[in-house]
Amino acid sequence: MVSAPDRRQYAPATERNRDPILKVLQQVLPPQGTILEIASGTGQHAIYFAPALAPRLWLPSEFDPELQASILAWRHRHPAANLMAPIVLDAGDRPWSIEAGTLPPDCTAADLQREPISAIIAINLIHIAPWSVALGLLAGASRLLPSGGILYLYGPFIEPDKPLTPSNLAFHQSLQFRNPAWGLRDLGILQAAAEAEGLQLQQVSSMPANNLSVVLRK
Ligand SMILES: C[S@@+](CC[C@H](N)C(=O)[O-])C[C@H]1O[C@@H](n2cnc3c(N)ncnc32)[C@H](O)[C@@H]1O
Repeated sequence: MVSAPDRRQYAPATERNRDPILKVLQQVLPPQGTILEIASGTGQHAIYFAPALAPRLWLPSEFDPELQASILAWRHRHPAANLMAPIVLDAGDRPWSIEAGTLPPDCTAADLQREPISAIIAINLIHIAPWSVALGLLAGASRLLPSGGILYLYGPFIEPDKPLTPSNLAFHQSLQFRNPAWGLRDLGILQAAAEAEGLQLQQVSSMPANNLSVVLRK
């Protein structure tokens, strides 16, 4: 018998940041519903967070087919009853695929009606994508979240009136070198864009390695 090739990809940072992020998620996520993870990457966060945050359902998503395969492979090795298969979702799209009826194979529209999306999370996305993707994320969260629902963002940001640390400045410059449309986002500008979509800044927490947890509430 030939076994399927292991499509798991590995991002070492996920093992460093997952526990501090989980601590914040446990405090800020609504106690039930479906958590839609945007830009799930390798899937390592999804397999770690889903069982720790049950009974909420965890719905990973990606726009990169190789990473969708990685999420499926990690989920195959670490199944959890509340962890769904990933869906294809480009955060810059309007509407999002899930609004146009794309669901994971193990989930029906009725399942999602029983456990509606109560929070959306995006870890290390908006600085590694054009600003239009951040705007698409805010607009999608505004359309999908119920009143009181949470949009959680994690990553490095530019904070008003605070100089960037040398490591974040170097990271910002390296991102802009790779793609001039990428780079650390200004928290004040993000807050204004979120407010224009009906999302209020609820909490900003310092995280290890000069990152922030940013919690927005619909
Ligand atoms: C630095 S990785 C972070 C992945 C994962 N969240 C983590 O922390 O390990 C950035 C991710 O954003 C995804 N991405 C970039 N642009 C996107 C978009 N427009 N919509 C959805 N995902 C996107 C990439 O495929 C990649 O998985």
